[in-house]
Amino acid sequence: MVTIRDVAARANVSVTTVSRVLNNKPDVSEATKRRVKKAIEELGYKPSGLARGLVLQKTNSIGLIIPDISNPFFPAIVKGIERRAKELGYSLLLCTTDNDKQEETEALALLRSKQVDGIILSFSLQSQEALLELEKQGFPIVQIDRQVKKSGYPAVTIDNQKSAFKATEFLINQGHTKIGHVTGDLNVETALQRLDGFRLALKKHGVEYREDWVLPGDFGRETGKACMERFIAMSERPTAIFFANDLMAFGAYEAIFNHGLNIPEDFSIIGHDNIDVASVIKPGLTTMEQPQYRLGQIAAEKLIGMIEGKQDSPAQTVVLGSDLVVRESVKQIAP
Ligand code: RIB
Repeated sequence: MVTIRDVAARANVSVTTVSRVLNNKPDVSEATKRRVKKAIEELGYKPSGLARGLVLQKTNSIGLIIPDISNPFFPAIVKGIERRAKELGYSLLLCTTDNDKQEETEALALLRSKQVDGIILSFSLQSQEALLELEKQGFPIVQIDRQVKKSGYPAVTIDNQKSAFKATEFLINQGHTKIGHVTGDLNVETALQRLDGFRLALKKHGVEYREDWVLPGDFGRETGKACMERFIAMSERPTAIFFANDLMAFGAYEAIFNHGLNIPEDFSIIGHDNIDVASVIKPGLTTMEQPQYRLGQIAAEKLIGMIEGKQDSPAQTVVLGSDLVVRESVKQIAP
């Protein structure tokens, strides 16, 4: 196969010069351009994927960094990104980080080494410095779901504070006044926003915010189960609990049933995300639905617009809504 090096040798120039000619860069003499183009024609050179990247400084690939592929929330996001990127002529390289700062840094370095044209990422607040550095270099990035707000990079997310407010207000409207919350990983913007929304809803309705009924989770099922064990052991228990995501709510189901207790008779439970199992589990989980697939599509369009310098992809953040999905896990209690 003819390579860019063969063309350079035939034209008696460097590979960089061939790249500059193919990329219509300035400061190449007409004579040199003619020699390079003659060599390309004589050799029948066709830039390959990587070579094309060298030549055009593009590989038509984008990177995606997400925290936890085992959480069903994220595959729907990946699908939306991958489908839209493919429609726009880009392939996808995926990295996962398990919310670990070091892994977030390593994933950025790996994807940069693979010459991706841009990256979509869902990061914890710990990696703010890494993003600020890339911003200085002008490297295209779009944040999805979890936003590092101090970064200037645009984000595609939902209004997490409003979503948590709606979930909590639903419990209050069902008559609950003793309400607990299990937070997500508080190194993550979505968890902080949902805690704020929970607190604001209680305040608006004059319902007591009990510090001892707000327990720290990490979006994982095991912490949901461990926090539910703590609620069960309390002498004074909340009657309803808002979990910052569905996986933790499923952990709570396990703890409640292990103690021979019932949902919603003993505890009303509401989650967040509406991942598939939420409609299958018994009783069905009341939750807040996120438009995962659409979030992914919009993020892919925005990033590729940035890569291709299209003015119609402004760098501002896109904030979508979330919908309450009522199932059987919350009961109404008499005022
Ligand atoms: O379930 C994982 C959670 O972390 C989701 O709620 C999503 O918003 C992400 O931030």
